Amino acid sequence: MESITLHNPLDMHLHLREGEMLKNTIDFTTSFFSGAVIMPNLSTPIITTYLALQYRDEILQSSKDKSFLPLITLYLTDSLEEEELKNAKSNGIRILKLYPKGATTNSQNGLDTILTPHTLKIFEIAQELGFILSIHGESNGFCMEREYEFKTIFAQIAQSFPKLKIIIEHMSDHRSIELLERYENIYATLTLHHITMTLDDVIGGGLRPHHFCKPILKTPKDRDMLLKLALNAHPKVCFGSDSAPHLEKNKLKDNGAAGVFSAPMVLPALCELFEKYDKLHNLQAFISNNAQTNYNITHLGKKSITLYKKHSSIPSQIKLIQNNIIPLNGGQMLGWALG
Ligand code: NCD
Ligand code: ZN
Repeated sequence: MESITLHNPLDMHLHLREGEMLKNTIDFTTSFFSGAVIMPNLSTPIITTYLALQYRDEILQSSKDKSFLPLITLYLTDSLEEEELKNAKSNGIRILKLYPKGATTNSQNGLDTILTPHTLKIFEIAQELGFILSIHGESNGFCMEREYEFKTIFAQIAQSFPKLKIIIEHMSDHRSIELLERYENIYATLTLHHITMTLDDVIGGGLRPHHFCKPILKTPKDRDMLLKLALNAHPKVCFGSDSAPHLEKNKLKDNGAAGVFSAPMVLPALCELFEKYDKLHNLQAFISNNAQTNYNITHLGKKSITLYKKHSSIPSQIKLIQNNIIPLNGGQMLGWALG
């Protein structure tokens, strides 16, 4: 049977939440991935080193696999102090996450104005300390233009801080791609949903709230050009699922939550996708090697995951005490299977 073995898969953009949600979703990632970049937008946001270290412990306690490497991120707020950044660095935290205020789930602590004397100072210290600046790059303009409108900010930060590595998280607009070519210090993560779906999958027929996420899914051209980056394992691009679980009732209500919960299916789905385009040989780079190089990850173990070309089904729901979480394409079949 055809198979592929992936070494040390990494998910460079992941929401694990806390408490019951964390306990019920974490093993979908930690059983198969060696590490992940963990987003800080909890209901109590990770704005200090103390909270970050506490969260890292909670994650490892909740995970069956204790060798998992959670790369915790620190939430950039207007009150983040230089000393706190230094403290974070000396405690092994290397990624700073920037959310524009109000751009997405739990971003109310984010930045109202992105470029202020305070943030410029923080970027300077982040550069000195070797931090990676991970950015949810969206303006508050028309939803299809938000990433595009943020482009000048990416360019300004990249130019002013040429040694600061900047990640365009969940790149969704083909017009962002040129930033990768133009600035040596700009990189990107790509989700499965942005490289396989468009806005039609959200509102083209009936409304599909489980496909609703930020940044919003875009046009066929955006999808196709981003897919090409992934399939070719462009060296400045790596996989970041942006798997973001929400309770079903919160997805379905008015003003429903943004986020696609893809963790239970991303690896077999990526195998299927890369095989379809005859690019399976590039999956290892996209799912691990590029990230190891770009984020300078040197201390991974020897985890290997073999996937087989046989049918598997995506769980239709994950039951929590009060409500369910619905995975992306829950209940559907895939042509590849884990183990
Ligand atoms: C994420 C979440 O739910 O935390 N939602 C999303 O639509 N992607 C936040 C984010 O990454 O924007
Ligand atoms: Zn996210």
